[in-house]
Amino acid sequence: MSTTDHAASSGVAIVGAGLVGLGWAIVFARAGIEVRVFDRSKDLVASLPAKLEQSLSDLESFGLIERPQEIAARVSCCETLAEAVRGIGYVQESVLERVDVKRALYEELDGLLDENTIVGSSSSGIPSSDFTEGLSIAPRCLVAHPVNPPYLVPVVELVPASWTLPEAVDQVHDLMHAVGQHPVRVARELRGFVLNRLQGVLLREAWALFEEGYCSAADIDATISKGLGLRWAFMGPFETIDLNAPGGVRDYANRLGGLYLDIASERGEPQPWSDELIGRVEAERRDALPLDGLQDRTEWRDRRLMALAAHMRSMEAAE
Ligand SMILES: NC(=O)c1ccc[n+]([C@@H]2O[C@H](COP(=O)([O-])OP(=O)(O)OC[C@H]3O[C@@H](n4cnc5c(N)ncnc54)[C@H](O)[C@@H]3O)[C@@H](O)[C@H]2O)c1
Repeated sequence: MSTTDHAASSGVAIVGAGLVGLGWAIVFARAGIEVRVFDRSKDLVASLPAKLEQSLSDLESFGLIERPQEIAARVSCCETLAEAVRGIGYVQESVLERVDVKRALYEELDGLLDENTIVGSSSSGIPSSDFTEGLSIAPRCLVAHPVNPPYLVPVVELVPASWTLPEAVDQVHDLMHAVGQHPVRVARELRGFVLNRLQGVLLREAWALFEEGYCSAADIDATISKGLGLRWAFMGPFETIDLNAPGGVRDYANRLGGLYLDIASERGEPQPWSDELIGRVEAERRDALPLDGLQDRTEWRDRRLMALAAHMRSMEAAE
């Protein structure tokens, strides 16, 4: 049975029900799946129903869900870890971002899980090999890193350890897709995975520009919230530059590659975009969008920006 079918019939377990664990409970329960939650903090467990109700009520008020009481009823809290994971096909581990805490939990899980159960870790940056080495469940463990809150931000990075079975990654990919998330595959482990590395580059430059006195923190924030970030609501950096030169991404790289190389050199990290590298990105882009489709896609982008501008204007008026 696939993990998606298994989850649909027996449910999923969320271990660790803080900020992220609660968000995951909403993701799965919203998709019609029974959710068993375990957290070692009794106080936190006691506060869960009220937090769940509040989030579901907000989602309903925006028309993003229907029948919040039915969704809440699919989430149950368990007294023990064993009770939470018994007979379950998928576990979303969401405990503290500390190797010792995760390792201790995975050692417990090792003696509790069925032979086909898969475990996805919400880890923000610790690779799963740091806490699964040598365990019998290790081949069925991987990172499934969400963005907070996962029921509103759909991307999930799937990062296997060297010993993770490819089928386990495929199964979690299918499950995430089935519950409305957007899984992204990372080929192998690296610190911070992809999302936090991209964010890290931006933060590194933001701190440096501030420290060097080029800009206030508010103006650096505005260059994103009133600038780059608006397009990023619906397209990433490669698609953005593909649409910002008449001949697509290669044309953009030819026009502006030198500028970006100078900037990287100033920071001591010159990394030229080689012709071969540009060619590989260009090939992927042209598969996704032929050159003669650039104009239509640019008009689509502009209409999305208009819709976003209208939405922001109405939100500002309501505030
Ligand atoms: N907060 C974010 O923005 C964010 C985003 C993506 C991923 N993550 C990752 O998600 C994970 C959880 O982060 P969080 O922000 O929800 O933290 P949190 O502190 O809000 O929640 C962690 C919960 O884990 C519980 N816990 C600790 N050890 C446990 C154990 N052995 N068994 C059961 N419960 C246990 C704690 O009681 C706590 O309620 C971390 O790996 C974090 O890096 C966080």
